[in-house]
Amino acid sequence: MASREQFSSRLGFVMAAAGSAVGLGNIWGFPTQTASNGGAAFVLVYFIMAFCLAYPALMAELIIGRHARANIVTALRGIAPNKPLRLAGTAVGLYGTLVASLILSFYGIVAGWMLAYLLESITAMFGWTGFSEWLLSFGLTRNLLFMGLFMLLTMGIIASGIAAGIERWSTRLMPLLLVIMVSLIVYVMTQKGALEGLKVYLLPDLEQIHPQLILDAMGQAFFSLSLGVGTMLVYGSYLSNEASLPRLGAAVTLVDAGIAFIAGLLIIPAIYVAKEHGANIFDASGELIAGPDLIFQVLPALFDSMGQVGLLVAFAFFTLMSIAALTSSISMLEVPVALATEETPASRRQATLVIGGLVFACSSLILLNFDTLFGFIITLTTVYSQPLLGLMLCVFAGWVWHRNSLLQAIQAGHPNIENTLFWKIWPHYVKYLCPVLILTTLVRSLTS
Ligand code: PFF
Repeated sequence: MASREQFSSRLGFVMAAAGSAVGLGNIWGFPTQTASNGGAAFVLVYFIMAFCLAYPALMAELIIGRHARANIVTALRGIAPNKPLRLAGTAVGLYGTLVASLILSFYGIVAGWMLAYLLESITAMFGWTGFSEWLLSFGLTRNLLFMGLFMLLTMGIIASGIAAGIERWSTRLMPLLLVIMVSLIVYVMTQKGALEGLKVYLLPDLEQIHPQLILDAMGQAFFSLSLGVGTMLVYGSYLSNEASLPRLGAAVTLVDAGIAFIAGLLIIPAIYVAKEHGANIFDASGELIAGPDLIFQVLPALFDSMGQVGLLVAFAFFTLMSIAALTSSISMLEVPVALATEETPASRRQATLVIGGLVFACSSLILLNFDTLFGFIITLTTVYSQPLLGLMLCVFAGWVWHRNSLLQAIQAGHPNIENTLFWKIWPHYVKYLCPVLILTTLVRSLTS
C-alpha cells in the first residue's frame, strides 16, 4: 500500500483546518445569528461556547485522528476495545460521514448562489442586463448549474490529494480571504450609518440570554469549527507526530472565532449603511432581516446604490463568500472520500467522482423540494446532529479509548506536556464535563 499522505507543514495544516472552519458559517451565519439574537449578548455566549465546549471537542477529534491515521469510521472502530464498542464506533463514524455529506449538499447550494452573484457583479460591469437578471433570479436551472459548478471545483481540489489539493488551495485562498475582508471593513467603516451598526454589534443586551440563544450559540460554535462529522478528525490524521496538537487546535479555534468576530464588524455595520441608503433592514416583526434576504437583497441593494464602486464592492464580497465556502466544502467531501479510499479498492479520483456525484444528486433533490427539505436538512444536521456527534466523540475519547493510549497520543509532539494545564484538565474535561454540558444544552432546548 502506498504510504499515507500528510500535510507538508504545520502552517499548511493550520491553513487547511482554519479553511475548513472559516466558511459561510463565520461570514454569514455568525453575524446574522448575532443580529437576530440580541447583538453582543450572542457574541459573548458564542465565545464561551467556542472555547469551553468546541475547542475541547476539536481536540478529541484531532487526537483520535492523528493516533488512528485513518478516516472517522476506521478510527473509532480502531480505538474501541471490544466487539460491541467497535460496532458502535462504526455506527457513529457512518453517522458522521452521512452528516458531513448532507451538510455538503445544502452548503453546495448556498455556495452556488454566491458564485452566481459573483458572476453577476462581472456581467453588470459589462451592462449585460438580461444575463444579469437571470443570474439573480431564483430559478431551478440557475441553482442546479451553479451548485454543480461549485461541486466540480470542490471535487477538483479533493481529487488532487492532501498536499497538492487541500493544503495548496487553502494556503493560497486563506490569506486572500483575509485581505478582501479587511479591505471591505475599512471601506464600510467610512460610510454613513456604520457606527450605528457597530453599536448594535458590540453592546450586549444580557436580557436576551435564554435557552434558545444558548442552543443556537452552541450549534453555531460546532458548525463553525466543523465538528462532529469527522473533518477535523481526518485532517488530524494527516498530521505528523512531531506537531503539538493542543497548540495547533488552539490556533485553529482562535483563527475561527477571530474571523467570525471580524466578519461581524463587516456585516452588521453594512446592514446599517444599507439602511442609510434607503434599504429596508427590518422584517414585518421589527427584527433585523437575517436570512438569505440579507445576503441576496439587503446587501445587493446597498451595492447597487453605490454606483460604479458598488460593482467592485459586490465583486470583492461575493469572491470572499465563494472562497470561504470552497475551503470548507473540500473538508466535507474529504470525509467520505477518505473512508472510501481506505475501506474500498477505489482510487482517490474514482471515490471523488462517485461521491461527488451522489452529493450532487442529493443537492438536486433538495433543490427540487426546496421548501420542504432545505431548512429541515440544515436544522437536522447542524443544530442537532453536530452537537450530538460531538458528544459521542467526547465519549469515545474519554470513556471508550484506553486511558494510557489516549495520554500517549496527547504526548506525541509536545515533550513537556505534563506541566501544562491542558494535560491536567482536558482528559477529565472531555470525559465528564463536555458530555454533560452538551447533553444539558440539547435536552433543555428540546424541553423548553
Ligand atoms: N465550518 C464551516 C463554516 O463555518 O461555514 C462549515 C462546516 C465545514 C461544517 C465542514 C461542517 C464541516 F464538516
